[in-house]
This record gives sequence, structure tokens and C-alpha cells, in this order.
Amino acid sequence: MPEAQIKFYYKNVLADVIGAEHGITDSRLKALAEKTTPLIKQLNKQRQEGQTPYRDLPFNLKTAEKVKNLASEVKDGCENLVVLGIGGSALGNIALQTALNPYMYNIHDNQRKGPRQFVFDNVDPSQLSSFLDWVSDRLDKTIINVISKSGRTAETASQFLIIRRLLLEKLGEAGFKNQVIAITDPEQGTLRKIATEANLRCLEVPDGVGGRFSVLSAVGLFSAAMCGIDIDSLLEGARDMDSKVSSEDFYANPAAINAAINYHYYNHGKKNSAMMPYSYALKDLADWYRQLWAESLGKSKDLAGNIVNIGPTPIRALGTTDQHSQVQLYREGPNDKLFTFLQVNNFEKDLTIGPAPDIAPELEFLAGNDLSKLLNSEKTATEYALLQDKRPCLTVFFDRVNAYTIGQFIYLYEVTTSFAGALFGINTYDQPAVELGKEATFALMGKKGFEQHARKIQPVTGIDEKFLI
Ligand code: PA5
Repeated sequence: MPEAQIKFYYKNVLADVIGAEHGITDSRLKALAEKTTPLIKQLNKQRQEGQTPYRDLPFNLKTAEKVKNLASEVKDGCENLVVLGIGGSALGNIALQTALNPYMYNIHDNQRKGPRQFVFDNVDPSQLSSFLDWVSDRLDKTIINVISKSGRTAETASQFLIIRRLLLEKLGEAGFKNQVIAITDPEQGTLRKIATEANLRCLEVPDGVGGRFSVLSAVGLFSAAMCGIDIDSLLEGARDMDSKVSSEDFYANPAAINAAINYHYYNHGKKNSAMMPYSYALKDLADWYRQLWAESLGKSKDLAGNIVNIGPTPIRALGTTDQHSQVQLYREGPNDKLFTFLQVNNFEKDLTIGPAPDIAPELEFLAGNDLSKLLNSEKTATEYALLQDKRPCLTVFFDRVNAYTIGQFIYLYEVTTSFAGALFGINTYDQPAVELGKEATFALMGKKGFEQHARKIQPVTGIDEKFLI
């Protein structure tokens, strides 16, 4: 097992640190352990019965081989990789790229181990037009990776239809076939149909794996492998975390204990869960977490069909940036949040702060220190300040940020989400509210079969001039 690991730290939620009103007492923790321990067995059983296929993704070495083979087949001569997808078909890709490739990756050729990467997870015409202006003369050196499990998502389908037209105009049928790689359902759906007809190269979104749990499948692995990320280490990290989060000892199982703490706070006045990385590289992982947590846990009904309207609201913040925008609220506003910091012990690169000019001796305390020391001191200082105000804080420590520890983190949070869903007694894996929004979009865009839907929407959302001032 590699030396660099992630570690979950929970002392600063305990009553001993922040007092019994906001902290978790020994007896409360014991009660949480008693409630959660049977769920560990239950989740392990569900996993063995194949009910949570995302748990098997890190063990699917065949997919990893297939992904690597396809990446090496198309990488030669590929200068740009364009990912088209949204939600679970984009957030993991973005998170891996930000975490595991340098900040200047797209700009500085020496910092790149693969093509530039662009992910489009929106349908803003100004944004896409600006990009197409740039890329349209480079299409023969550009791979388009369209990702959609259902194949019917309006955003991804529209982006794809625009780029398909451009490719056909500029490079013809053969160019379209050469430049596009589709990742979609193995058998069904609109994208599968198009890919089969056009004979596109394809990878699969595995059966039973929802978008937000799919980053360790071809969905996240292909763009990562194209851009030089070590996907074998990523999966190894996830596999090693699998043994920890399967442990039936509550106190040794970081996913069970993390979920139990989150569950406790949701039921004790802290309905918001803020993740605050102190590392730019980890910032988009907090975005990925936001979707995982929100779509999985925000549900109107429990498993018995009772209306519960449940779900902690995930918040993403970035240290130190948001110390200067959010921390005033976090400390003095309502005590309604659980904080999770992400802290890196060893940065790949560091900088020493330069000497202070004679005119500014008050800056001398900074001179000669490493920037990482300042960043981590600011994390400690913010946590200390929050604890003074009785705000509960968790930390995930990364020995260092690499593919292995990112794999560990992704898997830890996926399984934490499964435990949290089980504690809340809801279906963690569906997203009926997202589906309704998708269908309403179809109706508004005039899709056949959705006329009745459109008639229902108009009176609710039509602009009433009386209120437009
Ligand atoms: O997690 C999810 O299920 C969603 O966020 C989907 O990933 C998202 O809606 C995109 O769906 P699709 O991949 O079918 O285009």
C-alpha cells in the first residue's frame, strides 16, 4: 500500500472540544455507532448481491485496459480533448483534471502530458461560440468525447448536434467518425443509436451505475487517461479504501463514521454541510461532492413512501479565498453548518516567500516561510476560530494529492453517501426531481409527446407583466 494516504479526522465535532450543546457527547457517539453498525452489514450485503454496482468499478480492470488502449489509439496527433456532458457525466472529469494536472496544463505545453482539455457542461451560447471560433480550424486534431448515459439530456444532445454539424461540414462523414468517441449505455438510448449508426468508437456507462457514482467508470477514466492521469493508481486508491469502508468496526470505518456524524448534525440543527478544501487542486472535488450529496440525499419520500422532504444542503467553499467572503457568516451567522476541511500535508511544489523591503518591516514575519505553511496555518486558524464559536469541524487530510489519494477520497465519499442515505432511510440512487426538470425542458422546447406537459407549465411560469417593474 502506498505511503501517501488520506485520513479522516473527527475530534473537532466532539462535545469535549465544542461543548455539549453543539458537540457530540460520548453517549451520543455510542448511540450513533449502535444505529450505524447494522447498516455496515446491510451495505456489504447489498454490495455482494450486486445492488450497488458502483462499488465494483475499482475492481474492473478490463475497463481500465480498454480505456487505456483507446486513449493510446487516439492520443497521437490529438491536441484538444473536448468533453460534452453534464452533472455526473462531467463533474468527475473536471474534478480529476483540476486535482491531478497542473494549473497551467492547457496553456503551457511543457506542463501537458496529453491534449488540452475542455469540458462543456452548460448550454451558454456565448461560451460555446467563443470556443468553436477557436477550435473550428483545429478539428482534425481534436477529439470530441460525448458522454450521456441516457443519451436524451437536452444540454449534451444540443452541444453534440452543434459540433456534429461542424464536423460534418469541415471533415465529412469520415472525420465525424474519427473525431468522436461516445460514452453511453451499453445497449439503449439515443446516443447509443447514433453511435451505432455512425459506427463511432464507444465506451460504456455500466448498467446500474448512476451518473454521480460513475467517475471511476469509463465516464471519468477516459478523459483522465487521455490527459496523462494514472488511472491504475486512481483505481488502486479506491480499492484500498474499499477495505476500510467495508469494516464492520464502526470506529475503524471512515465512511460509516462520517455519515453518522453528518446524520447527527442534520437532525440537530445543522442542515448545511460545507466542504472547504485548502488546496486549489481539490476545489472541483468539492463541486463533485456537492452533486453527489445533493442528488443522492435530497428526497421527498422515505423508503416506506412517507413524505419526509429530507436532505442536507452541501456548500462548496475554498480556503483561503472564501475566508475573505464567507467566514464572517460561518462564524457569526446561524450555527447551522457542519464543516469539512480538506487539507494537504505535502504539496508537489512549494514556494518560499521573498524578503520584505526595508520600508515594510511589518511583512518580515512572512519572509522565508513556505507558501504551504501559510496556507495550512490559515486552515488551522480558521478552524480554531470556528471552534471558538462552537462550530463542528471535520478534516480529511491528504498526505499528498496524487491519483491514489484522489481515488481513496472519491470512494470514501461515494460510500459515505450510501451510508448517509441508509441512515436517512431514503433511496440514494434515484433522482426523480432532476428527471421532471428534464421533461419540462422537452415540453418547453416542443418535443413531441410532451404537449400536455407544456400546457401545465405555461400558467405557472409565464411572465405576468403586472409584476415586472
Ligand atoms: O447523476 C446523475 O444521474 C445526473 O447528474 C446525470 O449524470 C445528468 O443528468 C446527465 O445525464 P446523462 O448522462 O444521462 O446525460
